[in-house]
Amino acid sequence: MASSAALICETEAWKDLKGHVEDIKKTHLRDLMSDAHRCESMMLEFEGLLLDYSRQRATVETVDKLLNLAKAAQLSEKISRMFNGEHINSTENRSVLHVALRAPKDAVIKADGKNVVPEVWNVLDKIKDFSEKIRSGSWVGATGKPLKDVIAIGIGGSFLGPLFVHTALQTDPEAAECAKGRQLRFLANIDPVDVARNTNGLNPETTLVVVVSKTFTTAETMLNARTLREWITTALGAPAVAKHMVAVSTNLALVEKFGIDPNNTFAFWDWVGGRYSVCSAVGVLPLSLQYGFSVVEKFLKGASSIDQHFQSTPFEKNVPVLLGLLSVWNVSFLGYPARAILPYSQALEKFAPHIQQVSMESNGKGVSIDGLPLPFETGEIDFGEPGTNGQHSFYQLIHQGRVIPCDFIGTVKSQQPVYLEGEVVSNHDELMSNFFAQPDALAYGKTPEQLQKENVSENLIPHKTFTGNRPSLSLLLPELSAYNVGQLLAIYEHRVAVQGFVWGINSFDQWGVELGKVLATQVRKQLHGSRTQGAALEGFNYSTTTLLKRYLETSSEPKM
Ligand code: F6P
Repeated sequence: MASSAALICETEAWKDLKGHVEDIKKTHLRDLMSDAHRCESMMLEFEGLLLDYSRQRATVETVDKLLNLAKAAQLSEKISRMFNGEHINSTENRSVLHVALRAPKDAVIKADGKNVVPEVWNVLDKIKDFSEKIRSGSWVGATGKPLKDVIAIGIGGSFLGPLFVHTALQTDPEAAECAKGRQLRFLANIDPVDVARNTNGLNPETTLVVVVSKTFTTAETMLNARTLREWITTALGAPAVAKHMVAVSTNLALVEKFGIDPNNTFAFWDWVGGRYSVCSAVGVLPLSLQYGFSVVEKFLKGASSIDQHFQSTPFEKNVPVLLGLLSVWNVSFLGYPARAILPYSQALEKFAPHIQQVSMESNGKGVSIDGLPLPFETGEIDFGEPGTNGQHSFYQLIHQGRVIPCDFIGTVKSQQPVYLEGEVVSNHDELMSNFFAQPDALAYGKTPEQLQKENVSENLIPHKTFTGNRPSLSLLLPELSAYNVGQLLAIYEHRVAVQGFVWGINSFDQWGVELGKVLATQVRKQLHGSRTQGAALEGFNYSTTTLLKRYLETSSEPKM
């Protein structure tokens, strides 16, 4: 077993996998896929959700060796430590308990010796009550009109998760019915254009602004919050803030200082990481305002079902564990640095951007949890677009250029089925034909011999050859209900944790985002000095000085 200070790459299990790469290099997915026994062992089902990882460049032996790696990394112990509320986020001295956010009311999950589930449910009950008041019109705005539109201000984890879930639910028939006559918008970027776009067509009289920030110090969110406070007070007067602005934060003192009534504040806790906060008030409040609490509760239940599966299922049948181990295999052993997330579902169009933060902010680290420099790379470069749109964009590179392991995500049932009489298949079948075809195109490719048989002219054969042997996995969900959306979220959250646990890093801090923020403060100070007192540019290198000079000399910013 690895001692807590040792790096995982020093273990026998890691070295064994390194050696095993040579065996895998001799295989081709074309041949691996013809072994039905192997393929059968690479299918997993949980509550109607089917995971097929038979198109990974892996054999049954590879999976065994990865399970040995999990043992060497003490994965089981690390998962237990997370669920037990130990301070596994050691650089911030915090527990990591997003699982408590969706735990049933009678569950017991402790942080620092205290069961946190009752506190979680206090806030959920408060959200239920508040969102019902807003939705029913019993809480009205300053001029007596019901608040039918919501702008949620927040960035990063205070934005991407809620946006993903909102986008996923928008066309779900049950959720859509509950959202009739209401709008939910998200203001994230400090670019004033984002303010203009999000307020466009909205009336302050009928708008509720939700300021979402774990710290309540994030520069972009706070300036956007002040900008919308101005938008409201200019139209309705200062007292209107009490009726039109509420907040979600862990920093209740700063919320009050900002001028939002503490009664209209929805708390969460420092044991919830920003990118893991969609199941806290961060997501639950705006989503309940839009869809009603009962829809959002189904989403929480879906996430909870995966938490239980993750915590209690043996690793060889554990969806997030296997996915995490396979990602480690692809990144650290096969040397594939990127991953494409390809949902064949327009409703999942914001899934890849959310997972980008969950995965890249969590696992893009250069040192172990003990601070030792890592002699191997961690994390992966995540990107993605819904199919089939992506097929007409970047799939060329995936098929014939670089090897990028792909996650194909599809649903059996469409949220919005359409069949036109006379068409060969329904519109969803058309979409899903691509979902089923693409993984095989990547795995099998097309050989020069096949092309010759098709009488392709000699000069085009190299161009039309597909090497194949490109790994992917397929996740087929029964449908995209609120429950399944919750499951999908939790699968990826835990997968990322598994990767981090195996790599031996801290997946729950994010020091890498700090330096840029500090340098922006220096620029902000300079811009203020130059614009108000004509202060000379000072303390920047040649490049930044030149760019700033051009910006100051030619910009037409409003007078300060
Ligand atoms: O800058 C990165 C970050 O700290 C993320 O981790 C976080 O999700 C985001 O900023 C927003 O932070 P907050 O919710 O505190 O405004």
